[in-house]
Amino acid sequence: MEAKVISGGTRFTSLPRSYVRPESERPRLFEVSAFEHVPIIDLGCNDRSRVVRQVGDACRVYGFFQVINHGVSTEAVERMQEVAAEFFRLPEEEKMKLYSENPTKTMRLSTSFNVKKEKVHNWRDYLRLHCHPLEKYMEEWPANPPTFKEFVSNYCREVRCLGYRLEELISESLGLEKDAVRNILGEQGQHMAVNFYPPCPEPELTYGLPGHADPNALTILLQDLHVAGLQVLKYGKWVAVDPHPNAFVINIGDQLQALSNGRYKSVWHRTMVNADKPRMSIASFLCPSDDALISSPVSLLYNGCGPTYRDFTYAEYYKKFWSRNLDQGHCLELFKNRKRKWHESNCNF
Ligand code: OGA
Ligand code: NI
Repeated sequence: MEAKVISGGTRFTSLPRSYVRPESERPRLFEVSAFEHVPIIDLGCNDRSRVVRQVGDACRVYGFFQVINHGVSTEAVERMQEVAAEFFRLPEEEKMKLYSENPTKTMRLSTSFNVKKEKVHNWRDYLRLHCHPLEKYMEEWPANPPTFKEFVSNYCREVRCLGYRLEELISESLGLEKDAVRNILGEQGQHMAVNFYPPCPEPELTYGLPGHADPNALTILLQDLHVAGLQVLKYGKWVAVDPHPNAFVINIGDQLQALSNGRYKSVWHRTMVNADKPRMSIASFLCPSDDALISSPVSLLYNGCGPTYRDFTYAEYYKKFWSRNLDQGHCLELFKNRKRKWHESNCNF
């Protein structure tokens, strides 16, 4: 199905048909819980065991949390937001030079999610970059705006440090050594999606991103401070993650769900679009190295009977993820062990 960027500058007066969801799949905004909020965790708190406990609770119950006093400088954040907004204001012809629908490309501008696979499009354009190692990938990043490479690379470095800190807290919260998660994930890749959701003429008929789980290990999201849109599923109910000043939204991806043997949840989340205002979000994804074997440490196997998922490499997982449609169901389900088999061969009780 044909699609091209929607951030070209023309204001749409009605929603093109290829974006209209069938009635049963539309967002029902009146069902969104107004009383629940994902936890906000202060990483500046001196009581480490308290922070570890908060992180563990959030990962188990929500799969999402926000962090404040996270160590990423205000300057890096503001410059990142500024240059990303400037990028999407570039003329359409300039942006289209970077357009591609091929998910294996390490730098591309695209639209919706997986244009070639999906039946209905999503009201989103996105710039996707590989960011680690910076020396390898920066060269191919957009040369326009001229400050892009400098601002984005500084931001990437700072966000990576935050990611490592979070992985230590997550390790400890699982009762593991603080390096355990990093050791399993190997030399981690880092990707960025700069998501741009233009004003949408009929936001109740479509999504920015439909319900999905992130395929990577950990996502560090910088939300638009002024325009809300992210919602997460908790016990079957959608909860809005309202933007909090100076916070990052953190979520567990499929790899940490697998590594934790299902204790921590890579939960379904989605984004709504807005009739009047554009929304921009900047997602940084930490991913295992391609050859990392995703496998739960033995100490996490005794919550039921053995590993919930079979061991797999990240390369195998990622290929499977992009071969599907985003809201087709949780990709991790395809890696589940057949319980009985393992049970019969390995359990004595
Ligand atoms: C994503 C995502 C949320 C947002 O890029 O995977 O979930 O608020 N983004 O844009
Ligand atoms: Ni996501």
